[in-house]
Amino acid sequence: MTPNMKSYLSFLILLHCGSFAFGNPADEDRMAWFHDAKFGMFIHWGIYSVPAGEWKGEKDHGEWIQYTGNIHSAEYEKFAAQFNPVKFNSDEWVSLAKESGMKYIVITSKHHDGFCMYDSKLTSYDIVDASPYRKDPMKDLSKSCQEHGLKFCFYYSVKDWHHPEYPQKYTRFKKIQPEGFHGSPNPNADINKYFDYMEGQVKELLSNYGPIGIMWFDLGVPFDDPENRPFGEHLVDVIHELQPNCLINNRLSGIGADYGTPEQRIPGGKSSQAFEVCMTLNRHWGYNKNDNDWKDAETVIHNLVDIVSKGGNYLLNVGPTSEGLIPQESIDILTEVGAWMKQNGESIYGTQPGGPSIRWNHDIARITTKDNKWYLHIFDWPEDNKIFFRKIESKFKKAYLLSDKDQSALQVKYYNDDVSVMIYLHENAPDAIDSVVVLEF
Ligand code: GLC
Repeated sequence: MTPNMKSYLSFLILLHCGSFAFGNPADEDRMAWFHDAKFGMFIHWGIYSVPAGEWKGEKDHGEWIQYTGNIHSAEYEKFAAQFNPVKFNSDEWVSLAKESGMKYIVITSKHHDGFCMYDSKLTSYDIVDASPYRKDPMKDLSKSCQEHGLKFCFYYSVKDWHHPEYPQKYTRFKKIQPEGFHGSPNPNADINKYFDYMEGQVKELLSNYGPIGIMWFDLGVPFDDPENRPFGEHLVDVIHELQPNCLINNRLSGIGADYGTPEQRIPGGKSSQAFEVCMTLNRHWGYNKNDNDWKDAETVIHNLVDIVSKGGNYLLNVGPTSEGLIPQESIDILTEVGAWMKQNGESIYGTQPGGPSIRWNHDIARITTKDNKWYLHIFDWPEDNKIFFRKIESKFKKAYLLSDKDQSALQVKYYNDDVSVMIYLHENAPDAIDSVVVLEF
């Protein structure tokens, strides 16, 4: 194994274990909105939406299509000229996120292909200069987010298959690509020149789009290598100088990390460290017209509750088309999720991981808590219409269904010296996906 592969491997291990030393406790103030928010929208949007996942008869590509389809740079660049999202409407996207119960949006300002989805003065390989659209959608999105009260955040790929100074050694970790895969192959690539470019772009993103909630970096350079580390640290300082409240995820090899980013999987248990699970709604991040493997609203809601009960956030992805539309299937699923959130959001936002040291029967799927309340999430309504648990530390004042506006008290029976309790429910589940019982202490 080359030293490069080794450090990349250790980076991946860190990424997936999420075992970073996070910022100091004073940072908790900056993190407050993130902990309250719980649910965000990830948006993977770029010129890869033009081939829409299909290349030379293969249909399983996504935002990596330049790599997985072995597409020569000169060929790939042509997608820019075909990218014209005339149906894009920032207000519609942000309203959808809001109505679904999401509190923030993280969008790809630049993915691994190097194409910039905003107006960068440092390259002409961007949506304003290289596409017929000629406008900057990030301006509109930042404005709509401010109007609707959502946090606006940028994804930024460190990996860059287009920039001539991005060393080829970092693009070839998976398999050897044919010549011409990497834009302007440059055997003398100078990573410090690439770092200057990155720094300039991060400054643009943090200067021209209002307050940015998160800089969400993605893989590209092992910053734990001594030769790269100083720049990683410098970049974090630059971010904090420009926007002291901006959070940073853990993919600059953990440097400056405010939180961890498990991908496509939910941690097995509670975590004391902040984390955000990012996940696709079908199988791809970028738009793939053939991928109909959608998660249904029930799966999304159960995932959200599971993640929140473990102390994390859920960043759920949509992949808009090259016309600028979020796929209808995504809209339908999210609308259903939104209906549940309108009824039950109280049991999600601002809650703490639940399940203080009690034992419960598995009719109670997950527990979240807030102030003097516990929220018992019941995914499968028990056939005997009862839930039972033991080892509670004190009696509670009242139990009621969150969906019941009158908060009528459910019948409760204590026994075993008051450490065990039985709650009698109605015959039918108020919600087929997750009914929430509130215990008020
Ligand atoms: C992976 C993929 C990338 C995607 C990201 C989202 O790193 O390479 O395409 O943007 O996950 O977390």
